[in-house]
Amino acid sequence: MTDLIASLRDEARTAPESGIVDVITFGRDCADLIPLWVGEGDLPTPEFITRAAAASLARGETFYTHQRGIPALRQALADYHLRHFGKDWGAERYFVTGSGMQAIQIAVRLVAGSGDEVIYPSPAWPNLPAALQIAGAEAVSVPLVFAAQGWTLDADRVIAAITPRTRAIYLNSPSNPTGWIADRATLETILHEARRRGLWIIADEVYSRFVRGGLTRAPSFIDIAEPDDRILYVNTFSKNWAMTGWRVGWLSAPPEIGQVVENLIQYSTSGVAEFMQHAAHAALTQGEAFLAEETARADLGLEILTTALGDTQRARFTRPGGAFYLFFGIEGEDDSRDLARRIVRETGVGLAPGIAFGAEGEGFLRLCFARSRRDLSTAAARLRDWIAR
Ligand SMILES: Cc1ncc(COP(=O)(O)O)c(C=O)c1O
Repeated sequence: MTDLIASLRDEARTAPESGIVDVITFGRDCADLIPLWVGEGDLPTPEFITRAAAASLARGETFYTHQRGIPALRQALADYHLRHFGKDWGAERYFVTGSGMQAIQIAVRLVAGSGDEVIYPSPAWPNLPAALQIAGAEAVSVPLVFAAQGWTLDADRVIAAITPRTRAIYLNSPSNPTGWIADRATLETILHEARRRGLWIIADEVYSRFVRGGLTRAPSFIDIAEPDDRILYVNTFSKNWAMTGWRVGWLSAPPEIGQVVENLIQYSTSGVAEFMQHAAHAALTQGEAFLAEETARADLGLEILTTALGDTQRARFTRPGGAFYLFFGIEGEDDSRDLARRIVRETGVGLAPGIAFGAEGEGFLRLCFARSRRDLSTAAARLRDWIAR
């Protein structure tokens, strides 16, 4: 280790490299690559959104702006939640952030620091435990368990993991990478216990609109909570409206802590660019048809893949209820990092190794199916032939 690296703060120096990026770096130059390893679709941001951004820039809106978010966007967020979650909680509780990831960073900074513990179900998106580690807090995993009926979380195990050092429970539903969806009873158990013990909940519901079976959204803490419960909801424009490259999200928090949230925004990004906020406003107010098209496309993609993988008789998976990932294993293959490398080298299909999502994800691969029918059909055929070879 060089002196320069050794002299850095421990928590920063030891932050892990992403296990997803590792396989991307390995395979990005493979011939005829179909990249299904990252968490985004292949559609560019729709024009009604980019037009709103361009119009804002043309109006010269290039100055510092409201740190909590422009009033019109905060109101649009309140309206969106009223429309889809049936709760009129007012615009004051919404804070526009520079991505869902920044909303997580702020949520973590609000409630957990050195010596604190935060409980989370795993496999999980690795950025959460990494954000905790950088903050000096400890990420305590509770396993999501894979069985014939799919992934399940035993809420009693979450409760059993609570110690005097626990400050918060992070729950990502629908889950990346498993597609697991928390049912209302699970949410109730966790909320009940969090209230009883004065713990915070970080509710990561970024995939709540990506659900199957005729539903329009997943169960949410919003269904059962009061507006002043200790819940920080993190969300993003990235997934619903094909805006991963924009880096804009939101945090929903009790208005009582508004000034503290604003201070943390001030001392990180000092607010999101105004033209991006106008784009986000267009997404919320005009984006339902696009979202419906995206979810229908993802359903078709999932169908293509599960049919092909089912044919092999060697793939282990259940149909994910939410998000746009298939988390699957292959009989006899236990080392997901090695497996992802072999598959990309030999088939050109880029998959994320399950180990990147924690020890509980080992033996699985994550595949993002938010892509064109053509790409997914080709990828499905290549995977089927490779697995059955
Ligand atoms: C579970 C989960 N939460 C939050 C995010 C953050 O999304 P973004 O930073 O693109 O807004 C992601 C992105 O992959 C995610 O999978």
